[in-house]
Amino acid sequence: MASQIFQIIAFAARRASKLVYRTLYYVLFAKYAYKYISPFAYVAPRAHVRDYNRIRLGARVIIRSNCQIGGDIELANDVRLGLNCHIFGKVTIGQHVMIAPNVVLAGGAHGISIGAPMIFQPCPPARRIIIGEDVWIGANSVILQGVTISNGAVVGAGSVVTTDIPENAIAVGNPAKVLKYRN
Ligand SMILES: CC(C)(COP(=O)(O)OP(=O)(O)OC[C@H]1O[C@@H](n2cnc3c(N)ncnc32)[C@H](O)[C@@H]1OP(=O)(O)O)[C@@H](O)C(=O)NCCC(=O)NCCS
Repeated sequence: MASQIFQIIAFAARRASKLVYRTLYYVLFAKYAYKYISPFAYVAPRAHVRDYNRIRLGARVIIRSNCQIGGDIELANDVRLGLNCHIFGKVTIGQHVMIAPNVVLAGGAHGISIGAPMIFQPCPPARRIIIGEDVWIGANSVILQGVTISNGAVVGAGSVVTTDIPENAIAVGNPAKVLKYRN
């Protein structure tokens, strides 16, 4: 009995501390964020978001720890980024999209001509990644630039998406191919 009471108290304390922490975070963070992100978006303190003036975060967007985001990026309402996702270049994500941990949205590339070290070559113009609404991208996937993932699609864990994925398709593998359709 005593241990149950202790567990309940510990649970309540954890919840309360999380609430206080989040409230403080919003208050402290608001001076940087209020112009560029919805007040209801949550960016974990250990996430790294660059280029705030080019990034638009909709309502209730959640960006978890260790995510790295920079570039011309738009996340619509209710987009969730799991731990350690990397998004860079030009990327548009529609609403209600779930992105599992360790996903890379590589919306850009490097110059790869012969003659100069690639690191010093100018980057070619980025081709935008477009992710529709209600999409689920499985853990450890990589989405390459210029790809469109249509509404309702699912990308299996560990996939490398190099071409467009049609609506409601479940695509898996490297390179990702349509396995079946949701309905
Ligand atoms: C894509 C996915 C949704 C498909 O689930 P499912 O409909 O239950 O598919 P099944 O398990 O019946 O698999 C069907 C076939 O696809 C293959 N397959 C499934 N997922 C695969 C993947 N990610 N990569 C490669 N092949 C995959 C299976 O091996 C199976 O092949 P087989 O018919 O030759 O045996 C699921 O496998 C997946 O990857 N989910 C993502 C999980 C994740 O990232 N979670 C993170 C937490 S948010």
